[in-house]
Amino acid sequence: MYKTLHTDLTDNILTVTINRPDKLNALNKDVISELGEVVEEIYTNADIKSAVITGAGPKAFVAGADISEFQGLSKEAGKALSAKGSDIFFRIASCPKPIAAAVNGFALGGGCELAMACHFRLCVPNTKFGQPEVNLGLIPGYGGTQRLTKLIGRGRAIEIMLTGRMVEATEAHTMGLVNYIVTEPDELLSETRKLLGIINEKAPLAVARIIECVNIAAGDGIAHSETWDPDPFGGDDAADAGDAPVNGFAREQEAFGECFGTQDMKEGTAAFLEKRKPRFRGA
Ligand code: COA
Repeated sequence: MYKTLHTDLTDNILTVTINRPDKLNALNKDVISELGEVVEEIYTNADIKSAVITGAGPKAFVAGADISEFQGLSKEAGKALSAKGSDIFFRIASCPKPIAAAVNGFALGGGCELAMACHFRLCVPNTKFGQPEVNLGLIPGYGGTQRLTKLIGRGRAIEIMLTGRMVEATEAHTMGLVNYIVTEPDELLSETRKLLGIINEKAPLAVARIIECVNIAAGDGIAHSETWDPDPFGGDDAADAGDAPVNGFAREQEAFGECFGTQDMKEGTAAFLEKRKPRFRGA
């Protein structure tokens, strides 16, 4: 179905593997476009409760945007490339279903940005993160200047982006760039899926609202490019208001109230009081 991606849906978790190992899974136009398609599949396929993105081969998650496609691009084409990738990454960040990155090696440039757009990250010990665009006379273009700053703080983000240096897994973990280092590389996917499996048992409408409210706090997942139309819930709630600033506390209160209107909240509280496991249905 996809040319550059391999997908597998097991236990309601979609595993998306970027499959260009001979080019260290660099994001060329085809990969970007298919990532856009698979993200829409995650939004719309009710059998998918969560997803994990990883890279094929033993060496790389994604070694960046495909540099071979850069030469000869005009200013306008560069901006359009950035807008297209950014919109897809915003769509990942805003997805009401959790999307994790299983980072299995180099996560550079667009690879680091893709991992950061995901809701959380696990990696193997030999992972190297980085935003080396400055070495090419470029800057990060898929949200890296914003997301890295928010994840690890201004001073550390500026130093990493200005030097273009690589950040090893242990340092990335200390900085909060990655949630867990999985010691055995062979267990990276199973550990990521285990974490997603835990979330898949929670109430989906509550999960979606937590992601939405946290994204507001992080200033992430909200419209920024001219082509962006965020509508994760299809309604007219505050977070759908495009570039208008959203008060996260106000949205949290509204979303908290919305949960009281769900069957799942009634089930969750009843199950607690009846000392049994809840059965959530996403309603
Ligand atoms: N775009 C296009 N091709 C890339 C790529 C990228 N971002 N990253 C790696 N590749 C290709 C290499 O050109 C090479 O292709 P070839 O075998 O046809 O020559 C192949 O992937 C393997 O990479 P190679 O450089 O030989 O592996 P390495 O182990 O020596 O080095 C890296 C690994 C990640 C350090 C190195 O590939 C690199 O610096 N990549 C670019 C990282 C970057 O600048 N990313 C940001 C882009 S905006």
